[in-house]
Amino acid sequence: MSCFSPKYTSRDASQTGNALEYQERLDTHAEAPLFTSLRQFVSRHQAPFYSPGHKGGRTLDPWFRANIAALDLNNLPDTDTLHCPIGPIAEAERLIADAWGAAQSFMLVQGSTAGNITMALSALRPGDRVLVQRNAHKSVIAGLIQSGATPDWLAPYWDETFGMAHGISVATLEARLSEAPTRAVWLLHPTYYGSVADIAALSAVCRKHSVLLLVDGAHSPHFGFHPDLPVPAERNGAAGVVQSVHKIISGLSQAAVLHIDPMQLPTESVRRALQLVQTTSPHFAIMASIDLARREMVLDGYDLLQRTLELSRRARRELSAIPGITMLGPEHAAGPGSGFYGLDETKLLIGIGQLGMDGREIVKLLNRDYGIQPELAGAEHILCIVTLGNTESDIDRLVVALTQIAAQGRIERPSAIDSGMIRDLLAHPPELVLTPRDAYFAPDETVPFDQSSGRIAAEAITPYPPGIPIIMPGERLTRDVTSLLRALQNSGTPISASDPQLHTIKVVQ
Ligand SMILES: Cc1ncc(COP(=O)(O)O)c(C=O)c1O
Repeated sequence: MSCFSPKYTSRDASQTGNALEYQERLDTHAEAPLFTSLRQFVSRHQAPFYSPGHKGGRTLDPWFRANIAALDLNNLPDTDTLHCPIGPIAEAERLIADAWGAAQSFMLVQGSTAGNITMALSALRPGDRVLVQRNAHKSVIAGLIQSGATPDWLAPYWDETFGMAHGISVATLEARLSEAPTRAVWLLHPTYYGSVADIAALSAVCRKHSVLLLVDGAHSPHFGFHPDLPVPAERNGAAGVVQSVHKIISGLSQAAVLHIDPMQLPTESVRRALQLVQTTSPHFAIMASIDLARREMVLDGYDLLQRTLELSRRARRELSAIPGITMLGPEHAAGPGSGFYGLDETKLLIGIGQLGMDGREIVKLLNRDYGIQPELAGAEHILCIVTLGNTESDIDRLVVALTQIAAQGRIERPSAIDSGMIRDLLAHPPELVLTPRDAYFAPDETVPFDQSSGRIAAEAITPYPPGIPIIMPGERLTRDVTSLLRALQNSGTPISASDPQLHTIKVVQ
């Protein structure tokens, strides 16, 4: 029996005489493993360098924080309805558009993920050519699968020093747009690591070629509120921009917004898509947190972001002084028109290549020995996100911990992952044989992962974080790709896939 009610099983157990087994099962069900783990995590009071930006509620309105459960309501006359807003939700959306400087904005309760899928379903049709930055988030790929558009990948600027990809250069975009008729260009602004390309110039190129500019701005909800941050895409001619309000600023997880220019992306098309994508039971606390984050940004955003930038600048300065550590900074940018034009300084990208240790091993030490939780780590870097919710004491702890770890030298095994493999993959993606949609819906079979080279992937396989797929549905698998994924998995990186252990993979028959 896979599912039981205690009463029924009790009778059943006494009939079969298997009371001991029944009691053991009941004991197991007295546990709540996720709740217990979360509770233990919270009680450790870690120095938080991950999103959401409110960092355990530090920046939330006190009444709101105390009443989050009470705000778990339904679509009622007083609360308004997300799918057809005519009351406070409509007014809150109007204020969001005004605050961010967009023509029209929509609240999202399923993160930028829902926003990216909505943009795809509003802007793209099966067969449309869309130029997509290859280091796109998996939600962009979900949009491609659902819309049936044909991606043509744009190779991002590769940073040898930090072993990571940034944005798309103007020259690259110009060249690729002239190759074939194109419906849209889909860019990241910024990358997960905070780097941006020259979005104003890229937008001008899109306008010149009459193509839509869609922007995954998940990490940019704060850009419009401080002049030292990169320029926001929503004020630079994009047809649509999604932003996760839970990253950096004070939204709850899943809080996000979609800004559109209805002259390019008609309101009715967007609303139609939203009906397909968003839940009919939205959490009102998520929506209220967007409303409050908007108010906070408009009233106090400059000061709060100034403080956040001062914290992260102090951290960058002090961490740079640690032997073996190199910090990604605005000084590394490669100039106008390049794929690395500027940096969101609230992101601390800590280069540890010269320490001879794998970033993931360092994160384990930070977590276990120092009570510090970064956002993510790769072979040669660690990412810490400084947000409105961080304090001077968080920065002190991070600097002390990394000083001590760096002083220990090569205490853990060096990385088994060569970031050059990722560079080569981004520059020369595997052959796209079918569109992501055709591959996803084609007859498929499940085969051993290590014998899949040469087959066409029927799924995306994504190390998470940062959530950038290594192989897309429709691409031909190669030995390089399977080796890279296996190395990432062996290094402890969680893998989003039909089989997260990578014993098997779904391929087209
Ligand atoms: C670049 C990028 N786009 C989209 C998303 C999806 O955002 P969300 O988690 O709000 O759905 C993420 C999430 O980390 C991201 O990094």
